[in-house]
Amino acid sequence: MQDIVLLKDVYKVYTMGDIKVTALDGVSLAIKKGEFMAIMGASGSGKSTLMNILGCLDSPTQGKYYLEGIEVSRFSKNELAEIRNKKLGFVFQNFNLLSRTTVVENIELPLIYGKKISKNDTDEIYRIIRILGLEGFEKHYPNQLSGGQQQRVAIARAIANNPTLLLADEPTGNLDSATSTDVMNVLCDLNRTMGITIVLVTHETDIARYAGRVVVLKDGRVLSDTPSHSPGTPAVHASCETVP
Ligand SMILES: Nc1ncnc2c1ncn2[C@@H]1O[C@H](COP(=O)(O)OP(=O)(O)OP(=O)(O)O)[C@@H](O)[C@H]1O
Ligand SMILES: [Mg+2]
Repeated sequence: MQDIVLLKDVYKVYTMGDIKVTALDGVSLAIKKGEFMAIMGASGSGKSTLMNILGCLDSPTQGKYYLEGIEVSRFSKNELAEIRNKKLGFVFQNFNLLSRTTVVENIELPLIYGKKISKNDTDEIYRIIRILGLEGFEKHYPNQLSGGQQQRVAIARAIANNPTLLLADEPTGNLDSATSTDVMNVLCDLNRTMGITIVLVTHETDIARYAGRVVVLKDGRVLSDTPSHSPGTPAVHASCETVP
């Protein structure tokens, strides 16, 4: 199967005056279509830097990044923006919804960039609304929704473009544990039933367990890269790949 993501010896060095910070120190990583991967690691280990590169928000200082076989590491800012709109979906800790914009309008946004919404698009949006259990909330504004519902809207928006890769940076960071479970089950469902490839950053081992694979970073390097569930792991938080 083709690698969706292939990082080859990626470095990211931030230069501030005389000081250089090596945020990524030779990361090589391959992610296959349909994988659900969690990235963990201490504060400052390079998680956000790695997500920014995976999300084409930033380029490596050195090394190569292939997204679906295309080398994007040498792309210009404009080319990266185009790739982002076409191939990537983002979910953030603070939802990042537009506050004066209804649920359905928020979800439509990625489809509006550069083109008119067709009847097919509208059907697709309502299909996504159903998948995420947001029926009846189409005309609500974000402040009329619970945190979990807001994150569902953000996830709906992220998948509206049918992205190659869904990137989620601490998507449950602002949610209580019951709502976090709900949001993780949604992500699991999307991964399992729609085959969406997901990379998620989390500080919490309980959240990482939902992913099939956990990569731990330390000082900008991959410290470990393992399946998230070993035999004997309690089924309570079993990874979604193990759920029948
Ligand atoms: N824009 C920047 N300019 C300079 N240094 C940066 C920049 N962004 C990150 N760094 C440095 O790079 C290293 C990795 O930072 P990064 O934000 O990737 O860590 P992280 O794992 O996401 O941490 P956290 O868990 O706190 O979010 C840190 O030493 C950080 O100070
Ligand atoms: Mg971070």
